[in-house]
Formats: sequence, C-alpha cells, structure tokens
Amino acid sequence: MTKDLKIGIGTVQFGTPYGIANGGGITPPDEIARILSRADELGDVVLDTAPAYGDSERVLGQALTPGHSFRIVTKTPVFHTRTDITDIGAAVADGLDESLRDLRQNEVHGLLIHHPEDASGPYADELIEALMRLKEQGKVRKIGISVYGDDDLDVVAKTGTFDIVQLPLNVLDRRLIDSGRLDALNGADMEVHARSIFLQGLLLMAPEKLSAYFSPLLPVLQHFRDDADTAGLTPLQAALGFIAGQPAIDDVIIGIDSFDHYQEILSAATDDAELDYTLYGCHDDRMVDPRQWPAI
Ligand SMILES: NC(=O)c1ccc[n+]([C@@H]2O[C@H](COP(=O)([O-])OP(=O)(O)OC[C@H]3O[C@@H](n4cnc5c(N)ncnc54)[C@H](OP(=O)(O)O)[C@@H]3O)[C@@H](O)[C@H]2O)c1
Repeated sequence: MTKDLKIGIGTVQFGTPYGIANGGGITPPDEIARILSRADELGDVVLDTAPAYGDSERVLGQALTPGHSFRIVTKTPVFHTRTDITDIGAAVADGLDESLRDLRQNEVHGLLIHHPEDASGPYADELIEALMRLKEQGKVRKIGISVYGDDDLDVVAKTGTFDIVQLPLNVLDRRLIDSGRLDALNGADMEVHARSIFLQGLLLMAPEKLSAYFSPLLPVLQHFRDDADTAGLTPLQAALGFIAGQPAIDDVIIGIDSFDHYQEILSAATDDAELDYTLYGCHDDRMVDPRQWPAI
C-alpha cells in the first residue's frame, strides 16, 4: 500500500544552476513565488536550503511571507576541509546567524550537518555540541545530518542525538534499502528526508540524451521506463511510487525549477504504482552517486 507523500522542496536551483538536466539555469523569482504560494497553501512543507546553495537562502528570505507554514531546513558550512578554525562553536553559530539573516527568520525547523565527513572529523564532538546549544537557545527546533551512504549512517546511530537525517534514495539507488539501514530508521524518533528521487533529473531524461558516461545504466533505465509504460505510468509517477512504498520516509525533498514541474509532481504523488522495484537497483556508485559524476 502506498502512502500519501509529503513533498518537500529542494531549493538548490533557487540559487545555483544545478542539475544534470537543467537547461533553464536558476529558477526565476516569479516561478519561485508561485511555487511557494502553492506550497504554503498545502502547509507544513519542508523547504531544504543551505548557505552553499548560492543565493537560495536570500531569495527565500525575500519571497517568504510572515506567518508562513513552512518547515525550513538549512545546513552548516563545510568544516572538514578547513584547518583555520579555532572556535567551531562560534563558526557554527555565526553560520546560522547569517542564514537566519538571509532567510529573514528568527529560527528554523532544522539545521543539518551538510557534509557527513564533518560529523566524524577532527571537529565532530565540538560541532555536535554546538548544534545542541543552538537547539537549547531555540534558534533551531531540530538538528541533524545529510548523508550519502551506509557509513555515514553509522555516525547517526553512534551519535544518537540527531532529530533529522536526509539521505539519497531512488529507483536505481537502493543501497540504503539493500543494506537494511533504511529499515533500521523506520520507527526511529527521527524525521527521515529522502532526496535524489529523480537522481538529479536523470531518471526523467530520455535515455538517448544521457552522456556516454552513463551508458552502463542504459539497460536498467530502459527496463524501468518500459515497465512503467506497460503499467500506464510516466517515469515521474513510477519514481514517486517507489518512494511512496518506503514506510521509513517522512518527507521527500524534490528539486524543481518550475511551477509546472511542481504541479506535475503534486498530482502524481498519490498514484498507485504496482511495479517490482527490486528489478532496477544499480550497485555501481559511479552511476548512482552524483559526487562521482564527471562535470557534464
Ligand atoms: N548533500 C545534500 O544535502 C544534498 C545533495 C543534493 C541535493 N540536495 C537537496 O535535494 C534537492 C533536490 O536535488 P536532487 O539532486 O535530489 O534532485 P532530484 O529531486 O532528484 O531531481 C531534480 C531534477 O528533476 C527534474 N524534475 C523535477 N521535476 C520534474 C518534472 N515535473 N518534470 C521533469 N523533470 C523534473 C528537474 O530537472 P530539470 O533541471 O531538467 O528540470 C530537477 O532538476 C536539492 O534542491 C537540495 O535541496 C541536498
């Protein structure tokens, strides 16, 4: 049985020309306004942003209306590549103050460690203590981490203080399902946010438009698209249907760059999609982990 998906909005494209299929660049302000107005009507929608997303936080700050209904989630700056930080607590607090200024908010729903390496690096303990202090100060309601793979979830289990975890999940990338890690999160007292539902848009692109780098993916991608078509579904409906079948997922963070995209997703998010999703898993990290993709 599929469940109604809580569709959150990923805002990297509100501040940067992000996305493998992104021909349109940064989402224009009027499109952002229409998207946010519709989402605010729905209520309790997650807005996922970060200081690393260019102007995204500032653009949101200008577009959000007082008394909005959003759960805003932002992220920490990167730390594990830095050697010049003497006071991690101050760096995290200053980073959040800057985000709150740009977002024009007094608090946010969530603050996530953006780079999982930071949670196991030299500053890890100070970083997590700093997050907990900001929560005690009421500047953030929940603290958490954005992960990429199984190992990162070890930190979540070990730390035991996170309220939110954001993770990648889609029809091709079932690593966290196959390892049993996602199931272990099911029922945990934590919000689980899934991203990369469309693998940055790759799952919705015509296979012949993909660069040669992805040729190892073509057979399984075509298999998925053919089965979806046989079931009377678009790749978008089938990709959402897969997530709707994951009980551990509370919110889905989707990258959109137009109001029409958003509408299409909202209308597709409740469709039943009876496909055998175990058939499409790809275990080649070079294909399913966008960090390993060459600049395309
Ligand atoms: N480490 C992290 O914390 C991290 C990493 C990555 C992403 N994120 C978050 O996750 C969000 C989503 O990014 P993602 O990489 O996960 O992307 P995604 O949601 O898997 O894919 C987004 C892409 O799908 C395409 N798309 C969306 N709706 C569509 C529609 N109705 N019809 C056709 N194409 C459609 C768009 O491609 P086009 O551009 O072609 O329209 C869009 O760029 C980001 O905005 C960010 O907030 C976080």
